[in-house]
Amino acid sequence: MIKAFLFDLDGVIVDTAVFHYKAWKRLANQLNFDIDEEFNETLKGISRMDSLDAILKHGGVSLSQEEKEKYAKIKNDWYLELVNQMTVNDILPGVEIFLKESRNLGIKIALGSASKNASLILEKTGILGLFDALIDGNHVSKSKPDPEVFLKGAEALEVEYDACVVFEDAYAGVQAAKAAGMVAVGIGSCEVLNNADFVVKGLFEMSPSEIITKIL
Ligand code: BG6
Ligand code: MG
Repeated sequence: MIKAFLFDLDGVIVDTAVFHYKAWKRLANQLNFDIDEEFNETLKGISRMDSLDAILKHGGVSLSQEEKEKYAKIKNDWYLELVNQMTVNDILPGVEIFLKESRNLGIKIALGSASKNASLILEKTGILGLFDALIDGNHVSKSKPDPEVFLKGAEALEVEYDACVVFEDAYAGVQAAKAAGMVAVGIGSCEVLNNADFVVKGLFEMSPSEIITKIL
């Protein structure tokens, strides 16, 4: 029996995946190389410092720990310039109604995100109050594909792992959900998220009860 839904944030609830991409691309360009969308796909769901390490490796750049911290902060400042302009209009289509209908069905709701900016984003878009628990980059020590973020989400909701459904737009995020023993619904394209139990284009595509029926 399904008792909880755990949502990734960037690319599932809000369209911030594109903000991360813009800010990382700007940083790569400043360091005299470029990243494309295909490479960016591998960064989704990955923590800020792990993303920076992957980008520097991609560009063949090596930096000291101190420099890495400086560049991670620069990227985050650029990212926050975009986040600070967010409003309720930046919530992805169908999300609010999906969250409200889930609540009405008695399903518990948690956020399971690698982002350290998660509560700011939920506050800016006005949907913080729709979540029963928030597990983000400030609460975990291991990046997706490690299941830590989703295991902690289920524990915060006091729901068994196999009664949880995870909604994810990242390959690494789906890996994390499966490693936690949960059902993984991919948000995006079937080709990219071929490890998910099934894939929808967005939360507008199916209602919570249709998702539950499909799983049973
Ligand atoms: C994830 C994103 O949700 O959060 C990654 O998919 C991002 O792209 C990660 O790097 C960490 O986010 P933040 O906001 O803490 O830099
Ligand atoms: Mg995501």
